Amino acid sequence: MMNLAVFASGNGSNFEAVMEAVKSGAVQGEVKLLVCDKEQAFAIERAKNHGIPTFVASPKKYSSKEAYETNVLKQLHENNVELIVLAGYMRLIGSTLLHAFEHRILNIHPSLLPAFPGLDAIGQAFDAKVKVSGVTVHYVDAGMDTGPIIAQESIYIEDGDTREDVQRKIQQVEHQLYPATIQKVIEQITRGV
Ligand code: GRF
Repeated sequence: MMNLAVFASGNGSNFEAVMEAVKSGAVQGEVKLLVCDKEQAFAIERAKNHGIPTFVASPKKYSSKEAYETNVLKQLHENNVELIVLAGYMRLIGSTLLHAFEHRILNIHPSLLPAFPGLDAIGQAFDAKVKVSGVTVHYVDAGMDTGPIIAQESIYIEDGDTREDVQRKIQQVEHQLYPATIQKVIEQITRGV
């Protein structure tokens, strides 16, 4: 069993998918903590419903990113967290967390990276009128959506699809791909690869 922390800033549907996969045994881990940087995030409700402890902290209340992350790190250590899963966490990870969790931070991004990094990737793909987009799971480095790619899956954008249609297709893929990829990473870490 690997101890996980999920970081989220918003709705948390991927967080929910991970928790379901943990419950079913598809992910051999335990979600020890939700880290949330937005007091209003719906992800906090989801954590409550599943009885998962939440650390809510507004980075603005800290003197620096380092001070904020040092506090987050303390929570992670107290909960013996081994792997960090970003799920709609709208913030770049700084050097404090990157150094403490080298190759132990995953992110999911709603495009086929390196296409459409950054904010509103679904809108970017829709506006570019591409016919294929998708989802990427990657390790996190200091850049914006730039770390080594672990898994990708594509979706087709059909003529007449609305933005909402594309979003729905992407999220359906995300909710399968993220738990499956997390499990693969857990197996790799466990085998010492
Ligand atoms: C997802 O599309 C994910 O790829 C991106 O942020 C979104 C989060 O959605 N990083 P949710 O909060 O998990 O519903």
